[in-house]
Amino acid sequence: MNYLIKKSAFVSGATSGLGKELSIHLAKSGFHVLIHGRSDNKLNSLYDEIKSLKGTSTIVNLDLSDYKGIDRLGHEIFKKFKKLDLLIMNAATLGTLSPLCHQAPKEFEKVISTNLIANFRLLRSLEFSLKRSKKPEFCLISSPLTKEPKPFWGAYSVSKAALEQMIYTWHLENKKTNINIYIFYPKPINTKLRNAAMPGENEIKRQSPYEASQNLFHLMSKKKNKKGIFTFDL
Ligand SMILES: NC(=O)c1ccc[n+]([C@@H]2O[C@H](COP(=O)([O-])OP(=O)(O)OC[C@H]3O[C@@H](n4cnc5c(N)ncnc54)[C@H](OP(=O)(O)O)[C@@H]3O)[C@@H](O)[C@H]2O)c1
Repeated sequence: MNYLIKKSAFVSGATSGLGKELSIHLAKSGFHVLIHGRSDNKLNSLYDEIKSLKGTSTIVNLDLSDYKGIDRLGHEIFKKFKKLDLLIMNAATLGTLSPLCHQAPKEFEKVISTNLIANFRLLRSLEFSLKRSKKPEFCLISSPLTKEPKPFWGAYSVSKAALEQMIYTWHLENKKTNINIYIFYPKPINTKLRNAAMPGENEIKRQSPYEASQNLFHLMSKKKNKKGIFTFDL
């Protein structure tokens, strides 16, 4: 299989929840998907699932705390694929919900490191390949908390707000390029992260990762022929 003739997409945090469904959808739509995660078992099982659907993927096993590894990744992707058509920044960690000043400093740092700094490293590392695509697209999975902060969401909320600011800054610097940027604000999705945040919540009130994924691509497709930055409630 010559992957160079297919469109390619990188999905961070592809091993569960929304990222997994996004990866499956992309593979079914003909993308070669770089599925990112940190668990061999989960990555292999997703790889097999995509293969069984006649899709193709490449496993990227990398803990987002491995900054040097993220730096190497950009080089490896360029060497192998020469370009990247779609980057989905999806992986995130929640930390513990608590009053801000009760959050353990180590945990605060870990959440900021995974959700913000690792994504800065990822953007910096993959930007070159992304810009080699004829029609690059970038997708950020943000949070409604960036528009409406709530108590107790601590470092998670802070990291998402800063991450969004980072992407707006990047957008302003790249206005003359043809990169399309999509920012999503998901309502509750039935995933590991949501269960950790709201363990008592009635699951019926949540959308499934499949529904969120279908809706995301539907919203993106509406802007395909436009250029710029687009935000959507999901
Ligand atoms: N669920 C919601 O209601 C909701 C609402 C608003 C926004 N969001 C956003 O939606 C996105 C997807 O979250 P989700 O709900 O699908 O959560 P999820 O099921 O917990 O998925 C998070 C993904 O990120 C990966 N990840 C976390 N830390 C990592 C690290 N250090 N290195 C590598 N991978 C790491 C996880 O890997 P493991 O499987 O190995 O843990 C997993 O694949 C996130 O950006 C989240 O903030 C979710």
